[in-house]
Amino acid sequence: MTARLMLAVGGAVLGSLQFGYNTGVINAPQKVIEEFYNQTWLTRYEEPITAGTLTTLWSLSVAIFSVGGMVGSFSVGLFVNRFGRRNSMLMSNSLAFLAAILMGFSKVAYSFEMLILGRFIVGLYSGLTTGFVPMYVGEVSPTALRGALGTFHQLGIVVGILIAQVFGMDLIMGNESLWPLLLGFTFIPSLLQCIILPFAPESPRFLLINRNEENKAKSVLKKLRGTTDVSSDLQEMKEESRQMMREKKVTILELFRSPLYQQPILIAIVLQLSQQLSGINAVFYYSTSIFEKSGVEQPVYATIGSGVVNTAFTVVSLFVVERAGRRTLHLIGLAGMAGCAVLMTIALVLLDQMAWMSYISIIAIFGFVAFFEIGPGPIPWFIVAELFSQGPRPAAFAIAGLSNWTSNFIVGMGFQYVEQLCGPYVFIIFTVLLILFFIFTYFKVPETRGRTFDEIASGFRQGSASQSDKTPDEFHSLGADSQV
Ligand code: GLC
Repeated sequence: MTARLMLAVGGAVLGSLQFGYNTGVINAPQKVIEEFYNQTWLTRYEEPITAGTLTTLWSLSVAIFSVGGMVGSFSVGLFVNRFGRRNSMLMSNSLAFLAAILMGFSKVAYSFEMLILGRFIVGLYSGLTTGFVPMYVGEVSPTALRGALGTFHQLGIVVGILIAQVFGMDLIMGNESLWPLLLGFTFIPSLLQCIILPFAPESPRFLLINRNEENKAKSVLKKLRGTTDVSSDLQEMKEESRQMMREKKVTILELFRSPLYQQPILIAIVLQLSQQLSGINAVFYYSTSIFEKSGVEQPVYATIGSGVVNTAFTVVSLFVVERAGRRTLHLIGLAGMAGCAVLMTIALVLLDQMAWMSYISIIAIFGFVAFFEIGPGPIPWFIVAELFSQGPRPAAFAIAGLSNWTSNFIVGMGFQYVEQLCGPYVFIIFTVLLILFFIFTYFKVPETRGRTFDEIASGFRQGSASQSDKTPDEFHSLGADSQV
């Protein structure tokens, strides 16, 4: 680990923090912002807002963030090869500044439209971030640290959520007078990123493979690795570059058509779905009301507790991911979440008979969150960079990001309605999905730990000739001479 590498990763994940902050920020101050909507309506139309319109406006304010995310994540490919990875991140901050202004001044302007537009724009920014950051971090990291550093993206997200949960408390900023500041504070991580990132290098893979600037790539690599001998890194990139010359330009359509990419794109999509359809954001968007329904007395503190557990277990994952491997951790995480979802259901069903079940539901939710961060939280984000080589990588990120944000949107919008339908059994739906994702991961997802991008890609290349029903273990032996 060198200072340059730390600077690069640290500067990049300020974008992840921004995404997390805006995921969590809208939860606690719901009531006070709704009151502002009501007041604005009253001043404009001289009558109070109806309950239905208020719910619609509020749902829109929450969910339009994921719509922005869908558009943003799908647009990643338009930027990364044209401007480079680092400059794309820098440029996207203009969106966050604009969003901060719109949201921060919405109250003085008596305009909830400004707030909703701001949420959309910061969603656009966050969507771009979920492509830019894991791509950049994956490309600057040495193979042996790629998973651990990749997990920093998730760490940035969870720290952002936690900060938002704490700042959003009534006595800090989640109150009538300070909520505009709470939303507007999103300019701070962007400002920091604009100061730090210019000192971070461009991705050496981008410089060499996309720009053919070997000398620059070499000097960046020397700084990142802290050694003058970077020949093995360079060698590997050149191999990837040669491989890319042989392939035609990889469009999004090509990812689905070419047998070379069908397997990895399927894995990338399903892993994104496993992250979101695990139900994690049912907790992060609605935890306070879930805890309320489970009979917890101080739901806001329980929510913050879940944020703390979330952060702690992301740190655990960071330390074990290079030892235990991606596949194993993802499997453990999914299985543990399924178990906790069952426990949660039992607690909700028995709550009427036994009041102490409220404690069981706290344990169940904390466990659910902890297992999520062991694998399904961090791994899907960075594994996309690992499953694809330089050529198809931007298109793959676009598809993976779109899958992630779309399923995020579905859970965010749908959870409350499904909960009304299923009552205490709502978590059973997530249990079934979690089991299905476990089965898929067990049979289809290869281990990528300790293997170079090129080795992973050639595993799929050789596999696609003879494959379709190879087990992950057979996959190992397909393309990798340097197995760990
Ligand atoms: C992941 C998910 C995000 C979720 C977060 C919770 O980053 O992508 O939607 O809110 O984890 O920690």
